[in-house]
Amino acid sequence: MAKLIDGKAISAQIKEECKERVAKLKEEGIEVTLAVIQVGNDPASTVYVGNKKKACAYIGIRSLAYELPEETTQEELLALIGELNGRKDVNGILVQLPLPKHIDEEKVLDTIDPAKDVDGFHPQNVGALCIGKKGFVSCTPAGIIQLLKRSDIEIAGKECVVIGRSNIVGKPMALLLLRENGTVTVAHSRTRDLKEITKRADILIVAIGKPKMITADYVKEGAVVIDVGIHRNENNKLCGDVDFESVAPHCSAITPVPGGVGPMTIAMLMHNCVESAS
Ligand code: GUN
Repeated sequence: MAKLIDGKAISAQIKEECKERVAKLKEEGIEVTLAVIQVGNDPASTVYVGNKKKACAYIGIRSLAYELPEETTQEELLALIGELNGRKDVNGILVQLPLPKHIDEEKVLDTIDPAKDVDGFHPQNVGALCIGKKGFVSCTPAGIIQLLKRSDIEIAGKECVVIGRSNIVGKPMALLLLRENGTVTVAHSRTRDLKEITKRADILIVAIGKPKMITADYVKEGAVVIDVGIHRNENNKLCGDVDFESVAPHCSAITPVPGGVGPMTIAMLMHNCVESAS
């Protein structure tokens, strides 16, 4: 049976490290501050934003919450970001996505000062990752690298297959694995012979967004499988993109859902906030 990669324990470890660094910064007179902006009241966003504020409070990061009405104009949102960019007492700025349809998401993300872009979504930070320079990295893929490293799973020289090519997960994931000297293939919805490709993977990262799509016949014996998906099944129970019961007996290590990748995203956001003030 596969070893379970415990995202809850590893994220707790990272949060403790952040807490210590925040306390040290406080002694030096620096109060780490994150501004969190939510436009409208998408229920999922409200839960995510609430969890981010809770994590900040636990670690000792000051959070400034901006809960703006759905009708907020793009100009108003850009003006707020401009003001926060200029404030010396604000280290990190996070705009919760998705935004209402009348607001141009790309324009908003481009307006955040890259030095405060703790989500790692600004083109300057994405470009920095691409050419191996320092910068903020998108939290979910950065968290997956931590899961692998802290579980003593070697990446260098391994066949890594990423399924999914989103800007937030798939693309930065591929770049991070490459930075760790993995041999990387990115598969996606238009990939032919997906099984042929996934069966080559020593490390398989699944971010497709389809519940339980990856069954044992997609996975090489002894592979490491990381499941980024999160869905509710027919019994209202959480499940991932990977059919855990079918796949786990064939893996050397696998992340569960819940308790795998999920908790790592906020832990890495906290890490990025600490970095933004250091
Ligand atoms: N919406 C879903 N995931 C994220 C995330 O990681 N950051 C932001 N800002 N919005 C999101």
